[in-house]
Amino acid sequence: MTVVTVNLGEIVGRRSLEKMIIRDAAESDLPAIVEIYNTAIRSRISTAQLEPVSVEEKVAWFRGHSPQSRPLWVAEHDAQIAGWLSFHVFLPRSAYRDTVEISVYVSEQFQRVGLGRALLEKAITDSSRLGIHALVGCIFGHNEPSLRLFEKLGFERWGFLPRIARVDEIERDLMIVGRHISG
Ligand SMILES: CC(C)(COP(=O)(O)OP(=O)(O)OC[C@H]1O[C@@H](n2cnc3c(N)ncnc32)[C@H](O)[C@@H]1OP(=O)(O)O)[C@@H](O)C(=O)NCCC(=O)NCCS
Repeated sequence: MTVVTVNLGEIVGRRSLEKMIIRDAAESDLPAIVEIYNTAIRSRISTAQLEPVSVEEKVAWFRGHSPQSRPLWVAEHDAQIAGWLSFHVFLPRSAYRDTVEISVYVSEQFQRVGLGRALLEKAITDSSRLGIHALVGCIFGHNEPSLRLFEKLGFERWGFLPRIARVDEIERDLMIVGRHISG
């Protein structure tokens, strides 16, 4: 099991994040993971999933992760799940096997205190160990917080798919951001 203590060490906004643990998710974390995801679905900027999901619907997705190659991590603070990051298949063709898509979600109560950054930094650091050569993120063009977060950590805009999604009758763009992993 991967356990990392991220010491953010200051009181910012609504939360003190003195001790944040990032660890492999357990299946018992799934309700909290789903709750964070469903809040993001309602925001209409984070995901192309438009209807809320149930815990049962996400069990197969959860079990598709593996700590050794395609982990799902949660950030835990004081026994509360504050956010999560998942590694998943980018495209199901073998030439893309070393390229992995990541998704990161932070609970609203814990946003803007550096947690998204901490999760993403760990993903970049651990990618060599996981045999990953490139990381990509598929982000709506209007998801400014996420685009800024990824770009701050060295991701570049690799692909732009205009008006490819329809969200509540509004056409939305998709940006693919990417970063090669050296070594
Ligand atoms: C995007 C998201 C993960 C950012 O997480 P976070 O923990 O709030 O971000 P951090 O506090 O680590 O911020 C790191 C940087 O991201 C950018 N950022 C984060 N939130 C932002 C916002 N609301 N507006 C503008 N920039 C933002 C900033 O550049 C920030 O650096 P700064 O604080 O020095 O300005 C979070 O907003 C979230 O969970 N959103 C919903 C889910 C989502 O859209 N995920 C992306 C799809 S994969």
